[in-house]
Amino acid sequence: MKPNDTLPASLPRWPAAFNQVPKWAFEDADVFALEHERIFRGPVWHPVAHDAELPKPGDYKTVTVGRTPLLIIRGDDGVVRAFHNACTHRSTRLAMAFRGHSGDIECPYHRWVFDTRGQLRSCPGEAEFPPDFKRADYNLAEPRTGTYMGLLFVSLHASPPPLMDWMGHMAEPVRDALGGDGRLTLLGYQKVRYQSNWKVYIDNDAFHAPLLHAAFRILRWQGGSGRQSRLPAGHMMILSEVAAQPSDGGLLRDPSVIGYQGGAAPRNKAAAQAAGSSLLAFWPLTAIANHLDIFNIRYANPVGLDQVEVHYAYFAHADDDADMVRHRLRQSSNMIGPSGFVSLEDATVFLRIQQALDTDPSTTFFLKGYREGADLTETKQNDEAPNALWWEHYRQLMGFVREEA
Ligand code: FES
Ligand SMILES: [Fe+2]
Repeated sequence: MKPNDTLPASLPRWPAAFNQVPKWAFEDADVFALEHERIFRGPVWHPVAHDAELPKPGDYKTVTVGRTPLLIIRGDDGVVRAFHNACTHRSTRLAMAFRGHSGDIECPYHRWVFDTRGQLRSCPGEAEFPPDFKRADYNLAEPRTGTYMGLLFVSLHASPPPLMDWMGHMAEPVRDALGGDGRLTLLGYQKVRYQSNWKVYIDNDAFHAPLLHAAFRILRWQGGSGRQSRLPAGHMMILSEVAAQPSDGGLLRDPSVIGYQGGAAPRNKAAAQAAGSSLLAFWPLTAIANHLDIFNIRYANPVGLDQVEVHYAYFAHADDDADMVRHRLRQSSNMIGPSGFVSLEDATVFLRIQQALDTDPSTTFFLKGYREGADLTETKQNDEAPNALWWEHYRQLMGFVREEA
């Protein structure tokens, strides 16, 4: 592969220094177009839905992977499937709502009708179609799929790696973060569009958490004794200890909102003595968070060069009693998400970065703490340097070649 082979020759090479990231990666339209081909349609799996989001036959949700709209629907046979959300006649988008319930799906343009298993059932004027026309050739197109603990993954690539190989050692923490058995019930969503390139969002490093977020400091929420791991497929795991009953300094009217009731402790007690926090980020950008009693999946997707949409989905466990469900709901909606008190400031910083990209003198981001030859795969909880491994994965998949040192 040639350096920057499908991009303008004027685009500078990737910096030679391992801990530097070029600003052009966040604001160049050709880079954004290439990301769709090499990342979102690349040899990567994208988590798109959990079983609990579609409990009944006919329940559906729509998602977008890169620029490709998908329809996730539980068929009348109880099976959850993913389809390209496009009529096979002239590519009219079918489902428009974020979530809904449907019987057969009718395209409004020429009234082709598909069932909940994606099969073409009828099309007006069929007698006038060419003699070799067969409805079975026009069923809804299906991307490759895989499931784990009720979580559905899709890949738009023709030959992605086996799902469990790609997940690697993150499988066990993912199982724990999905309640130990994946038997979840949906509490609801928070949705936000951050005004930044999607990579600004995912570059939200572990270093910043206690520095930017005031509530981290006030609550002394993390003790810094956790660890951060990076996997060969680019995934990130941060497993940390948090205080089971953090001190709120008398600031909260109802401190029970930050209490721990033992509903979601990671099983890795070495990393989480009492209450636990795990953040499991699949490469490139969707993550599962399990803080205190919170079960959260953060589905994210770019909606343009300078916007990223994040759907925070919150869950309870199927065995929870009514009090536990209420506790999880209050904790989830108050603590994290776009207005959560331990994550509130992120939106402002993402916007500020996007606004200030086109500035001198620096043309690069800088990640602290990297020493030549250092192993960044196992590091302390709040190190910044391991983000360089996310970027290295990105650089290689995009085919960008480094400058000579
Ligand atoms: S585009 Fe859907 S029926 Fe024609
Ligand atoms: Fe943050």
